[in-house]
Amino acid sequence: MAAKELRRQGPKADPVSNVGSHHGGMRLVEIRGLVRRYGEGHAAVEALADVDLSIEAGEFVALLGRSGSGKSTLLNLLSGLDSPTAGSVRIGGEDLAGLDPDGLAHYRSTQIGIVFQSFHLLPGRTALANVEMPLVLDGEPREERRDRAAAALAAVGLSDRVSHRPSELSGGEQQRVAIARALVRDPALLVCDEPTGNLDSTTADGVTELLLTLNRERGVTIVLVTHDEALARRCASRIVVLEDGRIVREEATERVMS
Ligand SMILES: Nc1ncnc2c1ncn2[C@@H]1O[C@H](COP(=O)(O)OP(=O)(O)O)[C@@H](O)[C@H]1O
Ligand SMILES: [Mg+2]
Repeated sequence: MAAKELRRQGPKADPVSNVGSHHGGMRLVEIRGLVRRYGEGHAAVEALADVDLSIEAGEFVALLGRSGSGKSTLLNLLSGLDSPTAGSVRIGGEDLAGLDPDGLAHYRSTQIGIVFQSFHLLPGRTALANVEMPLVLDGEPREERRDRAAAALAAVGLSDRVSHRPSELSGGEQQRVAIARALVRDPALLVCDEPTGNLDSTTADGVTELLLTLNRERGVTIVLVTHDEALARRCASRIVVLEDGRIVREEATERVMS
């Protein structure tokens, strides 16, 4: 299946440099005429109304918009967690609507890394164990998953925190662990829904800077939902603004974050 072809070819000799690294320049996402309606009749809400959006591999797209504008709905459709009322989401040329439940599960586990506002870490487990978890579910051998989890933690600057439990980590560090967990399977696309919403502004800057570094230095393709336009301008290569389920503005940015 095409989803498989999105994965990098060749042996994973160097786990560190393999974390989230993909070649840029290829059309990764193609969204056409996307509609998501909730409810029926007078009570119906059109969370998305005819959205077209394309994303190239290697891009960093910030999705902006007020609360209720449809940002999370769009991410859920992109992540295969929800299906559209009309229109299509193609990733690597493959229409998600054409995947059966197993195909969708495979798509979600191999192609998409998701980071939420709340970190969703397992409280009793170390940072390393949390990051390893997706690989445990894959049935990956213990030693290999240790190496990959350690590499992912190194990529987010937490090599010295592998044995810490979430309660022993700051909010920013916990979100970094969640980002490492999202990247450990080397997904084609990292999807972040208000990842700094629970963090103070200094910590939020650090996490945003990490996302920028992952995009610039490792070529991770990112879609970041935020309602903070200033923050978006500092990290994203493109800004897309949603209003009432429609894209009302799209703009290439000059990133200014160092
Ligand atoms: N499961 C649902 N059932 C009904 N309405 C929903 C559901 N999810 C979202 N909505 C509605 O769709 C619109 C967009 O929601 P959402 O995508 O969560 O916005 P955002 O993430 O931009 O705040 C809102 O009006 C919201 O109330
Ligand atoms: Mg939302």
